[in-house]
Amino acid sequence: MEKKRVLSGIRATGRLHLGNYLGMVKGMLELQDNPGYEVFFMVADLHAMTTPYDPKTLQKNIYEVVLDYLAAGLDPENASVFVQSHIPEHIELAYLFSTVVSVARLSHLPTYKEKVRQYPENVTMALLYYPVLMAADILAYKTEELPVGDDQLPHLEITREIARKMNEKYSCNFPEPQQLKTEGHYIPSLTGEGKMSKSVEGSYINLTDELGVIKEKFARVPTDVGRGKSVPQEGGVAALLSLVELFQGEDKRKEYETEYLSEGVQYKSLKEELAQAIFEELKPIQARRKELDQKPKYVDRVIGGGAEKARKIARETLDETKRKMGLI
Ligand code: TRP
Repeated sequence: MEKKRVLSGIRATGRLHLGNYLGMVKGMLELQDNPGYEVFFMVADLHAMTTPYDPKTLQKNIYEVVLDYLAAGLDPENASVFVQSHIPEHIELAYLFSTVVSVARLSHLPTYKEKVRQYPENVTMALLYYPVLMAADILAYKTEELPVGDDQLPHLEITREIARKMNEKYSCNFPEPQQLKTEGHYIPSLTGEGKMSKSVEGSYINLTDELGVIKEKFARVPTDVGRGKSVPQEGGVAALLSLVELFQGEDKRKEYETEYLSEGVQYKSLKEELAQAIFEELKPIQARRKELDQKPKYVDRVIGGGAEKARKIARETLDETKRKMGLI
């Protein structure tokens, strides 16, 4: 049986947080156990260079993401992990794709505009080019479906447009990839505003956070008096309730909602129990991470093996595309 290929990735800007884990990694872990899929976990180091970064820590950040993937349960027997820049075919394919995307289309993307607002001193070509490279990451493996957070939907839209145009113009056969919705495709920020994000201080829980740290972070989540006529749909309380649902189940969430509408919710114990539940899930991940930290040679071997598998496929797609475009 022909296996379906799936690729997803995380920027190498530091450690994984709960949003990455629930929105993407967990979905990928399910697929790696499914024999119908061939799964690629990528560390997007080239994408990490699109916002200000320190070359001295980039290698370390790449390594951290690989360790987090492995600690979270990536099984090198059933899935591949590789570093984006190790497969230069992605860059070459991205250049070819850039011939069918207009500058205007890219400059109007909400994700681009947000970064321009965040880093007005760093509006580079690489930043504008971000979605084109991401389309190459995905289409190099002919990925049809992939788990990504909702924040990545504009990039998937561009990827589909590129696939369509390449197919129309050059008779390529790229699929139009869709989001594979995971339970945690949208994880709210602990600040109560927007989504959990590495670039917003105080918004996230790292996979490596100890129980005490999680509790401290929860202590700062803004709440209210704990009761009212309707359950808040946004803000800190809504964020806590969605985490309750994800880690303690829907029934627990409903209990709190009922309390909110009657005698009131005690946030102190809600936060305490939720912190405990999250930590229970993170504990084995943290233990595996500590073990892996002692085995750098093993980790290097895994990355090397992943690159080998990925390169073969990316090479094929690139050659095919070059042929269709008249380059060879
Ligand atoms: N843009 C993604 C993010 O910020 C990371 C990424 C890069 C990615 N290339 C990808 C995700 C390819 C999925 C597929 O999270």
